[in-house]
Amino acid sequence: MPATELEQIVNLCKRRGFVYPSAEIYGGFRSSYDYGPLGSLMLRNVKDAWVRTMVQERDDVVLIDAAILGPPAVFEASGHLANFSDPLVDCTVCNKRFREDQLDARDCPNKMKGCTFTEARAFNLMFQTHAGPVEGEGATVYMRPETAQGMFVNFANVLQTSRKKPPFGIAQVGKSFRNEITPGNFIFRTREFEQMEMEFFVPPAESSKWYEYWCNERLNWYIELGIPAELLRIRAHDAVELSHYSAGTSDIEFKFPWGWGELEGIAQRTNFDLNRHSEFSHQKLDYFDQATNERYVPYVVEPAAGANRTMAAFLLAAYDEDVVNDEPRTVLRLHPRLAPYKVAVLPLSKKDTLMPLSKQIFGQLSKLYMVDFDETQAIGRRYRRQDEIGTPFCVTVDFDSLEDQAVTIRERDTTTQERVPIAQLESVLQSKLGF
Ligand code: GAP
Repeated sequence: MPATELEQIVNLCKRRGFVYPSAEIYGGFRSSYDYGPLGSLMLRNVKDAWVRTMVQERDDVVLIDAAILGPPAVFEASGHLANFSDPLVDCTVCNKRFREDQLDARDCPNKMKGCTFTEARAFNLMFQTHAGPVEGEGATVYMRPETAQGMFVNFANVLQTSRKKPPFGIAQVGKSFRNEITPGNFIFRTREFEQMEMEFFVPPAESSKWYEYWCNERLNWYIELGIPAELLRIRAHDAVELSHYSAGTSDIEFKFPWGWGELEGIAQRTNFDLNRHSEFSHQKLDYFDQATNERYVPYVVEPAAGANRTMAAFLLAAYDEDVVNDEPRTVLRLHPRLAPYKVAVLPLSKKDTLMPLSKQIFGQLSKLYMVDFDETQAIGRRYRRQDEIGTPFCVTVDFDSLEDQAVTIRERDTTTQERVPIAQLESVLQSKLGF
């Protein structure tokens, strides 16, 4: 039974060290979050799972890591300076600002009497700053609102250095920044967030085929990592929703407690970006196909996902409450690849006699996986704690272990226990985890 209220995971995240409000000791910094010891591991696992599927397991996609700050020319060419804006209205009574397209029947969400709104005006979402030692005098620079432009401006570099040819992709994982008018819903919409994007460059005639292909591939990625299919849907954009660069976009949406929300967009960006950067930079950004003797500007199909809201979706889908030994428990049934810790090593007692063997097992397993070590409190409490943070397996070292050189593996989902010789521990865990 996945979480039905956002608060269920917000509380768990705070209590267990997944996600904290940013700058909390100063009262918090609105809609910014810091990822704690467990959240930082899980967020990294989400991004690693994406890189594994999108780059490591393919021979037609390469990874880059481009700069966050960019000169105006990049965003002039990309169209973000002119077009990347939301329609903003002010309420004349409560003086709050809203996105016009998110208002129900132009009612003020604060429900003040006699609310009226100003005319909508375009509000550019990019953060602008200045580079240089003298405040106010440096060159204007922008923080990237999407990682995608890094792939377009490096298209020629990658083509020359990677020996790839269309169809091929350039992928990137990294931070993007948008001055969102209405951030909210925990880590769903924030001003600073991480994207996992891939630009797939194809011969123009193959664009529709690859669009279908990536819609299916991407939907399956979420299902394979444990989100039930009924909590996911794919929705094509109406013409009015399309971004300035898109000839067609479909969103992969997750059923959040407040309704369907976008996890990822798959867009047909045509040759818009390469043409624009070619025009503004006066550089050739095309491909010469020696087989057909043809020169063309590749079309682009772009699967673009958000790491943070995807992590929220994985947490919501994995959240469960059940009863074990007549006691209620909270359990995160996370896919092992996403779980912060894969294994926890638990000496049955704090007694010194169990420590050397327990530490030795921790040392051995932590070379393979992220492993927790917990010697505090009663063993039942420790199992519950690991269940609540999604650790798939606990390895318990008891007094018999000193004699029989065996330990107990306990499974999170079924709570079943199995005695395993220490000599076989690595291979048994490997087959249970699947990696
Ligand atoms: N390059 C295309 C692009 O950026 P997008 O739909 O604007 O497309 C892609 O963003 C993904 O980035 C979204 O599906 C979402 O998961 C994530 N994202 C966008 N804005 C976000 C925000 N303010 N907070 C968290 N994630 C965001």
